Amino acid sequence: MPGLTHLECTRCGQSFAADRPQTVCPKDGGVLYARYDLASLRRKFTPEQLGGRVSSMWRYAEVLPEAAPVSLGEGFTPMLASREFPKVFIKDEGLNPTGSFKARGLSAAVTMAKHFGLKRLAIPSAGNAAGALAAYAAAAGLEAHIFMPKDVPMANRIESQYYGARVTLVDGLISDCARMVAERKQQEDWFDISTLKEPYRVEGKKTMGYEVAEQLGWRLPQGIIYPTGGGVGMIGMWKAFGEMQQLGWIGSERPKMISVQSAGCAPIVKAWDEGKSTSEIWANAATSASGLRVPKAYGDYLILDILKQSQGTAVAVSDDEIMDALHRWASMEGIFAAPEGAAALAAYRKLRASGFFSESDQVVLFNTGAGLKYLDTLNQAGASAGSKLPTSRQIAGIIGPY
Ligand SMILES: Cc1ncc(COP(=O)(O)O)c(C=O)c1O
Ligand SMILES: [Zn+2]
Repeated sequence: MPGLTHLECTRCGQSFAADRPQTVCPKDGGVLYARYDLASLRRKFTPEQLGGRVSSMWRYAEVLPEAAPVSLGEGFTPMLASREFPKVFIKDEGLNPTGSFKARGLSAAVTMAKHFGLKRLAIPSAGNAAGALAAYAAAAGLEAHIFMPKDVPMANRIESQYYGARVTLVDGLISDCARMVAERKQQEDWFDISTLKEPYRVEGKKTMGYEVAEQLGWRLPQGIIYPTGGGVGMIGMWKAFGEMQQLGWIGSERPKMISVQSAGCAPIVKAWDEGKSTSEIWANAATSASGLRVPKAYGDYLILDILKQSQGTAVAVSDDEIMDALHRWASMEGIFAAPEGAAALAAYRKLRASGFFSESDQVVLFNTGAGLKYLDTLNQAGASAGSKLPTSRQIAGIIGPY
């Protein structure tokens, strides 16, 4: 692997070999980052070379592990100029395979699992990561063992089953699912693809950072609003910015990184508000943005550090604000977003109202998934929202039969 040289612990800095499967640092449980020989790449790899390359995240091959990609066309998603706010862009990750940005991380992780000859992969998931693992495992000919809350959106369960994964529905949260995977993985010979417990999901997600820069003409925006559960996208993008600086593609400027969470599960917001460097487990997590129902992020120390370094912030939005933003994006922009993605718009509105961002700040909002995966959630939300949401309104008329 010419570019990739080793893995490095984000807590103690120890190096680990990248030529075999790795999990987390055995000493302190720290997340391992893939490190590349960026000093030699600096002379050889330039933005000009990207023109004409494949329209997927694998266009950044030099800064990804060298292995035959298990690809379904993930990444290089549209960067859409908002019709409502002139300086805002919406990065539409709903157009990825399996309808969410989870495709990027799982494409990279499954690529490496296949490369290392692993056969049986297991994942605890809030929903979309399960569907993505199931799809990429199917494409790679590997087994996927999925543990997800029993009340995930129906699409997450059904797609996983169609892709041929073994699905276990758990009466609990993603944290309970993670415990089950951890307890059984040794005996079942599963490789654990949990968020940040192997090094390559971050590598897939970091391509969002490369794309933001490329699509904005190699100038970073003033802010990025990212719906945060486990936080891999934020962690990945921040890593990408550091790499791009070392490659000489950007300077030391950075966007303010903003974590948005649901008020029903906001451990990062709470820790940020209290000035802490790690979070506590959020009790009784509940939100219709199911991907944000993560009571404790494994990489909380990384997320909170990024918020601090970037002079960003963390914002909680209510489910009502999320649904209102989802409706707004659909009717105003023509973008039918996942509730998690719509949370980014709800946060942007708050940050404009508070003066954190001004009208002239260029801000990228991440729509992390497709609304089409949440029809049951949205139908239910409509039924309980009086006449505020389209699904609760009368259909204009039912005509026929002709
Ligand atoms: C649509 C969507 N957005 C955001 C998230 C949160 O992602 P992360 O765990 O990488 O922070 C998820 C996680 O499941 C999701 O499915
Ligand atoms: Zn360590």
